[in-house]
Amino acid sequence: MKRMIELNVNGESHAVIVEDHRTLLEVLRESLGLTGTKEACDLGDCGTCTVLIDGKPVLSCLTLAIDAQGKEITTIEGLVRNGELHKVQKAFIEKGAVQCGFCTPGMVLTGKALLDENPQPTEQEVREAISGNLCRCTGYVKIVDAILAASVE
Ligand code: FES
Ligand code: FES
Repeated sequence: MKRMIELNVNGESHAVIVEDHRTLLEVLRESLGLTGTKEACDLGDCGTCTVLIDGKPVLSCLTLAIDAQGKEITTIEGLVRNGELHKVQKAFIEKGAVQCGFCTPGMVLTGKALLDENPQPTEQEVREAISGNLCRCTGYVKIVDAILAASVE
């Protein structure tokens, strides 16, 4: 069955027609063109599809779009303010924490959510926060360094 729903994404309201089984990931990428949210396993294993819902990291491949109504959804496209990157994004660049970049949107959003809740995390807390986000390139050290660096800004 198809229905019209309203999604609040990056501070803007979007009316979209979706089938009940469509995931938030599919709607973000295919209906709204927000391809910064990446699709990899589609099984809840890799974290590349992470977005924030009401400030918390959520796997958009396991979330039905209809269940995201009435909530604040933030994708990587929503982190730039007045043309300026978020401090976690800047730290990823400064620390060289990006290689292929496929995991990066999910990592950055997870890091942002952590720092919003816990502005000065320990290294262990950073590692636990990103434990659901897989990276095949960096070995994680620079990603952890970047989130810690953003925490002291
Ligand atoms: S694509 Fe959602 S967890 Fe892998
Ligand atoms: S930078 Fe390539 S998967 Fe993380």
